[in-house]
Amino acid sequence: MEITPFLQRELPEPLYSQLYHWIKKEIEEGRLLPGMKMPSIRQLTAHLEVSRNTVESAYQQLQSEGYLESVPKSGIWVAEIEKPLLHPIELKHPVMPECKPSSDVRVDFEYGNVDLDKFPLKQWKKCLSDAVGQENNWLFEYSEKQGESALKREISNYLLQSRGVRSTPEQILITAGTQTSMALICRLLALREQTVAIEEPGYIGVRSVIEDEGCYIDPVPLEKDGLSVEHVERSRAKAVYVTPSHQFPFGMILSISKRMRLLKWAYQTGGYIIEDDYDGEFRYQGQPIPSLKSLDEEEKVIYLGTFSKSFLPSVRLSYIIFPPSLMDQYSRNFAVYNQSVSPIIQRAMALFMQSGEFERHIRRMRKMYQRKHQTLLKSIEQHMGTKVKIIGEKSGLHILLQLKGISTIELIEKGLQKGVKAYSPIRFWLNPPPEGNSYIMLGFGGLSIDEIEKGVRLLASCLPETGD
Ligand SMILES: Cc1ncc(COP(=O)(O)O)c(C=O)c1O
Repeated sequence: MEITPFLQRELPEPLYSQLYHWIKKEIEEGRLLPGMKMPSIRQLTAHLEVSRNTVESAYQQLQSEGYLESVPKSGIWVAEIEKPLLHPIELKHPVMPECKPSSDVRVDFEYGNVDLDKFPLKQWKKCLSDAVGQENNWLFEYSEKQGESALKREISNYLLQSRGVRSTPEQILITAGTQTSMALICRLLALREQTVAIEEPGYIGVRSVIEDEGCYIDPVPLEKDGLSVEHVERSRAKAVYVTPSHQFPFGMILSISKRMRLLKWAYQTGGYIIEDDYDGEFRYQGQPIPSLKSLDEEEKVIYLGTFSKSFLPSVRLSYIIFPPSLMDQYSRNFAVYNQSVSPIIQRAMALFMQSGEFERHIRRMRKMYQRKHQTLLKSIEQHMGTKVKIIGEKSGLHILLQLKGISTIELIEKGLQKGVKAYSPIRFWLNPPPEGNSYIMLGFGGLSIDEIEKGVRLLASCLPETGD
């Protein structure tokens, strides 16, 4: 078969990436069908007049994501892709056995859930009811465009105390989730067809938005103390998205020297740093880590916050702190955009914060999550010993385990048979390395202490006898 993709050398996107995207689209849209034989690397190299490396890298990526299959002595073939898997997230990586009906699952280490037992439901309901009870005109109207002033004042006070962020309420834009925040930022900074650097691996929820907004992604490798700033300095990135207080999903903290160097990069190049402080409240050892924004002296950090971890994901409440000049630009460029979060939810949250309930809730939750986290680490030590390595163990609502002698898929499958569900972090890589298949991710926010212990015991019983 001959294929003729349209490759443009003048684009900043590398040729291998253009070729990869082209073939992937052809397969997804059914123009290249399962069982079709692809041209060999040599043939395609000659046909497209590109380097062998270009074709090899594109093919390798497509193979690791399951689009192509290499059969020794036979060639490279379009792989079978089941229709229901044609979903943007599942598409990218080999199919993980994560979709077994949850009725058989007794312990689910799903990431993203929060503790419901200690949730102050009564107080929250009262705030909701009080918000609706304040029968003023606002109840019958749209929200203030950038968010309710009462809530923005509360957020501004809270961030100063808890995260060292200095901001005025006027710099705050209320949004309905971090993805909404990211899409708005891409449009405001005109990042379409520009390069955005992101951590590799990193949060797929944000990466997908950046891709969908038409940006080129520059995946930045991680080092022990966070992303490689050297890589950012060499990139053409106009913006960099980071999770400095608790890297997602690996959990390391961006070191102070890297923070200063990243800020210097932004000051010198005019690039922006987009700081996602999604779970900065939950640190269990050592001092709280101040935000990167608190070090920013030239207004180059855009700060993203969310109530999804600190409160509830279902309120769909998050916010952006813009540098003042960008906020002015936002008000001008997006003057007709309505606020997407209900003013009722915003007012209720403002009341919840004013009453001191939010702070109490955070303190209670931090203690609660700390207990769960300790239980998780202890149970792993006790039941898994040296068969696994714990990664990112000081904060947040999840950890990673590096496995020995068993692959992620095998462990997930075995775990499901025993009623415990663990997750693969493979989709957080844009270009998954082979060792990406030796981690599992355990979210523990929504599990009880008993469930955590039981889940670890069950998983441990699936590990091979000697992991070394
Ligand atoms: C890195 C990161 N940022 C942000 C969020 C929260 O996103 P949202 O505000 O859309 O709930 C999550 C949730 O899983 C996350 O892992």
